[in-house]
Amino acid sequence: MDLPGKTAVITGASKGIGKAIAARLAASGVNVVLAARTQATLDQTVAEINERGSGKALGVACDVGKMEDLENLVNTTKSAFGPVDILVNNAGVTSQFAFNEQPFEEFEKLVHTNYLGYVRLIRLVINDMIERKQGAIINSVSGSTLVDPIPRDFLVYSSLKHGLRKFLKGLFWSMRDHGIKVTTLLPGVTDSDLTSSLKDITQEQSERLMDPETVVDMVMYALSVPVNACPLELAVINQQTPWTKPTIDFKQQLAK
Ligand SMILES: NC(=O)c1ccc[n+]([C@@H]2O[C@H](COP(=O)([O-])OP(=O)(O)OC[C@H]3O[C@@H](n4cnc5c(N)ncnc54)[C@H](OP(=O)(O)O)[C@@H]3O)[C@@H](O)[C@H]2O)c1
Repeated sequence: MDLPGKTAVITGASKGIGKAIAARLAASGVNVVLAARTQATLDQTVAEINERGSGKALGVACDVGKMEDLENLVNTTKSAFGPVDILVNNAGVTSQFAFNEQPFEEFEKLVHTNYLGYVRLIRLVINDMIERKQGAIINSVSGSTLVDPIPRDFLVYSSLKHGLRKFLKGLFWSMRDHGIKVTTLLPGVTDSDLTSSLKDITQEQSERLMDPETVVDMVMYALSVPVNACPLELAVINQQTPWTKPTIDFKQQLAK
């Protein structure tokens, strides 16, 4: 894709992986619309990107779990920069609990943010893309979907990521007919606020996490391939982080 002058929406763009993606796309001349809930962080990130020049950045406060916020995000983008050429679905939250201790409200939060947020936003932009016979939809899913069984304390988080990955794989094939490219990113454990909140991660392990720029490289690769090719899935996994190995710990509590 010829990037300068294109329009991109990036969700979860005020911090972490999404911020790094927005900054690199803007540096490549793309006009970027950044979405996240917290206005102050969003404003700060938008100002940083605009200071560097090239593509313009606009922030839209948005909870991807709310339909009206998603509609406002798409409408504001169209008014400011025109139709969406690139959608980067990235906003996500983690939830690390033993299942029997996980609060019920965590389930709703995960479904609305990490699953419905992606599916609904795609639905809101897809008909414009179909009409224009072009568009790229890039989605941060998770390397945890490569682990079977899914990690012990991430049952709901990872199973929703599995469902999302299946949905996106199906979408790839149906959108291919319309000239739209759908790519799923499966990153390993990456240095961000999300990982700094995880339990059971040592200082040494946290120093070995992937840099968000590595995930940005995946996005830029997806956008750089010729028009007649599309990476369906890209997986880049930690090479040196023991914490990510798919162990099933034995913690059986026997009846006395
Ligand atoms: N970090 C990893 O190791 C890793 C690995 C694989 C996949 N992923 C996936 O990559 C994505 C980004 O993760 P990250 O590590 O960059 O996370 P992060 O550093 O915690 O950043 C999350 C971003 O999403 C926004 N956000 C959270 N909930 C939102 C909501 N309901 N509506 C709109 N924005 C929301 C946050 O801003 P506000 O809180 O202000 O809304 C923030 O900008 C997630 O989908 C995650 O599952 C991460």
